[in-house]
Amino acid sequence: MAVRKLAPEDMQPESFVLSPETEAFADKEIAKYPPGRQASAVIALLGKAQEQAGGWLPRKAIEAVAAKLDMAVIRVMEVATFYTMFNLEPVGKYFIQFCGTTPCVLRGAGDIRKVLERRIGDQNHVTTDGTFSWLEVECLGACSNAPMVQINDDYYEDLTTENFEKLLDDLASGRPVKKGSQIGRNRSEPFEAVNTLQDPVLYDGSLVGAWRKRFDEQAKAAETGEAAAATASVPQDAKAAKPAAGRAIESDAADTPAKRAKEGEKPINPTDRKEAADPSKATKVEPKEKGTQPAPQSGKSYVASPTKGGEAVPNSPTTPVAGTPPAQAETRRDGSESKPDVVVTKDNKTS
Ligand code: FES
Repeated sequence: MAVRKLAPEDMQPESFVLSPETEAFADKEIAKYPPGRQASAVIALLGKAQEQAGGWLPRKAIEAVAAKLDMAVIRVMEVATFYTMFNLEPVGKYFIQFCGTTPCVLRGAGDIRKVLERRIGDQNHVTTDGTFSWLEVECLGACSNAPMVQINDDYYEDLTTENFEKLLDDLASGRPVKKGSQIGRNRSEPFEAVNTLQDPVLYDGSLVGAWRKRFDEQAKAAETGEAAAATASVPQDAKAAKPAAGRAIESDAADTPAKRAKEGEKPINPTDRKEAADPSKATKVEPKEKGTQPAPQSGKSYVASPTKGGEAVPNSPTTPVAGTPPAQAETRRDGSESKPDVVVTKDNKTS
């Protein structure tokens, strides 16, 4: 990317004043935007100032535009140095922008470049008579008529070495020149024989609305096909779905006061609830006679720890009934006397 900076001081004019024409143009552009938004016209004004200055933007022209738009000079400078359509150095009377992008190169832009270098010199060089200067640019959007150049505001396309040399000669001598294609092509029509889009029905009007007819037919066919497919997919002995099929199952929360009231049950007495939680009022299950119960099926040993260290006590008889203090428990929950005859001695040995 080329470095874009202002022309050297010795090229800069000492002053620049917007002409009445440029002033009128500026007022018209500024009026397009809401009050206070006049800065939006900056690109248009820079373009007009460039035109007034002879195709490039001196520092004084940039400052004049900034003053007209009540903008900081640096902000206008940023715009002027960013966009390549603004020339920051003097250009020739005929400023040639040469397209050096791939499509043009494939169509012979290299030969056009040689002509420019031979007749004008390097890029950005202005001929001694001030007639020509040139610059290589990226695609100018006329690839189908490649190779091409833009000279000032006009395109010149389908260039060859011969017709481009003649074009430069005519411009230099002030003779009229032909804009656009230099080989007589109408815009971007086929370069040689027409070999596409030749079917006469494309042009006799018979295809007007054809796309709608085609879409209607396709939609109808799809509709018919879907109906037939739906009929075929339903089994003859299909059963109707249950009315509640697929719905969420609704049920009451278990044993809530609301549910008990709904079912006609009395609410639980708070006193009863309190007594039920009192371990001292728990039901005591009497042990059954020894020998009447089967031997325990489990191989587990229910060995209890001594209640006091060093004191030999019989092993806890069984798992206590819920609510019964462990020390008072005498039977297993299932009523069996399955405890093994194990005694814990002082030295924690069992027998
Ligand atoms: S590549 Fe040259 S105009 Fe597009």
